[in-house]
Amino acid sequence: MEVVIAPGPELARLAADTVEQVLRARAAEGRHAVLGIATGSSPLAVYDELARRHTEEGLSFAGVRAFMLDEYVGLPVDHPERYRNVIEKEFASRVDIDPADVQGPDGLASDIPAACAAYEAAITEAGGVDVQLLGVGTDGHIAFNEPGSSLASRTRIKTLTRQTREDNARFFDGDVDRVPTHCLTQGLATIMSARHVLLLATGKHKAEAVHQLVEGPVSAMWPGTVLQHHPHATVLVDEAAASRLQLAAYYRETFDAKPSWQGI
Ligand code: GLP
Repeated sequence: MEVVIAPGPELARLAADTVEQVLRARAAEGRHAVLGIATGSSPLAVYDELARRHTEEGLSFAGVRAFMLDEYVGLPVDHPERYRNVIEKEFASRVDIDPADVQGPDGLASDIPAACAAYEAAITEAGGVDVQLLGVGTDGHIAFNEPGSSLASRTRIKTLTRQTREDNARFFDGDVDRVPTHCLTQGLATIMSARHVLLLATGKHKAEAVHQLVEGPVSAMWPGTVLQHHPHATVLVDEAAASRLQLAAYYRETFDAKPSWQGI
């Protein structure tokens, strides 16, 4: 696991660089990249930077497939906080990706287990995720894998914790009762199948979750700790989110001393 501590805009540039490299590398092989995309505020600056590169530099997402991490259960198709709509607004509508190539778990499915199995199959059929953008909740959840999630889990229904619903109430006019109680989420094993995981976290409120994720014991109590087992996980954090890291000085030295060819 690599930890990069830098100001927010630089983190977004680094993440966008990685996405761009994957797009170009796959294109050079005559294939299309498969992106794993996340909702929440953490990846927004990355989407801004990717949209800028699309508009100003011609970076193309044509043919790229994108898979979302999670979705609320039961939000109507036109609800602005339905994650499929959030992704459309923040990312898909701003680049030239085909909307049909953006998929998420179906939170309105009548047969939820079948919808979750179909989603796993779709990711596999696409060839798996090349690079997965990820945030982390204050309770250490990744996607919507709340504390107690199986480290071997696949896409399934979960009940949101009170903490997560309170954290997300800001998107529902501050009213926690309007935040759905259930979600569909890629499992921890699904996320672990991505070839490169880029986790972004900014702000003091993420410091404990980041400390646990990077330096704590691997445990279902802090689901993001499973990433310690990932062969290529990059944790991009600002100073505030890094403020509880015990080895922060070492992470800084390591990044500063990196050979320029290595990338993240
Ligand atoms: C939600 C999402 C997660 C996201 C988390 C953190 O619960 N399901 O994917 O990582 O929020 O959100 P934010 O980035 O806004 O802090």
